[in-house]
Amino acid sequence: MQAALSSARITLVPLTEEHLDYEIELDSDPEVMRYLGAGVARSRPEIEEAHRRRLTAATPTPGLGYWIGFIEDQFVGWWTLSTPERPDQGPVEGQAELGYRLLPRYWRRGLGGEGARELLRHGFVDLGLGRIFAETMAVNTASRATMASIGMHYVRTFYLQWEHSIPGSEHGEVEYAITSDNWRTHQRR
Ligand SMILES: CC(C)(COP(=O)(O)OP(=O)(O)OC[C@H]1O[C@@H](n2cnc3c(N)ncnc32)[C@H](O)[C@@H]1OP(=O)(O)O)[C@@H](O)C(=O)NCCC(=O)NCCS
Repeated sequence: MQAALSSARITLVPLTEEHLDYEIELDSDPEVMRYLGAGVARSRPEIEEAHRRRLTAATPTPGLGYWIGFIEDQFVGWWTLSTPERPDQGPVEGQAELGYRLLPRYWRRGLGGEGARELLRHGFVDLGLGRIFAETMAVNTASRATMASIGMHYVRTFYLQWEHSIPGSEHGEVEYAITSDNWRTHQRR
């Protein structure tokens, strides 16, 4: 049900069982995980559990999921459009949560934004979504800048209870979002 996608530089392949080693490379890097989960590298069992969750991210909305990104045959990172999970995120129908995670050697080359733009296009044009949102720690400057650069707007700051609080979590989380109408307007500019 999940489509293969591509942007100018990136081939985006739906996540399968075979991609676990790429997730291990990403999630065992403390730089990547600085603002995620407990803010430290994940262990292999933790990554295996996250992998299983990611494989079901499309449920219950066919077409959503995780995409593994390659430049030629080199793994770059992943992007996702996932089903909303918490009541405060709003309805499941017509919505998806955007996310991304890249290997540090590919940061600041426009790739995070490039893959995210393709997922917005896919979500609005191919899947007919009405709204796509993204969340990150308020102090995650790179993620917020990526959201803003693809046309998303700041919606709110909110506070979640975490098992492990990491530096900066006292500033809370932020939500950014873009509607289908806003995206179409953004495209025309
Ligand atoms: C967030 C992340 C995907 C950004 O990827 P990237 O490929 O470096 O982003 P891009 O190069 O496409 O940059 C997108 C925009 O953000 C800006 N940006 C990126 N990193 C930045 C930083 N550290 N500080 C300020 N601005 C930054 C870029 O200048 C660009 O803005 P512009 O289009 O207005 O010039 C990457 O930093 C990452 O994987 N981080 C670790 C995982 C993570 O935190 N994911 C998000 C969790 S919610």
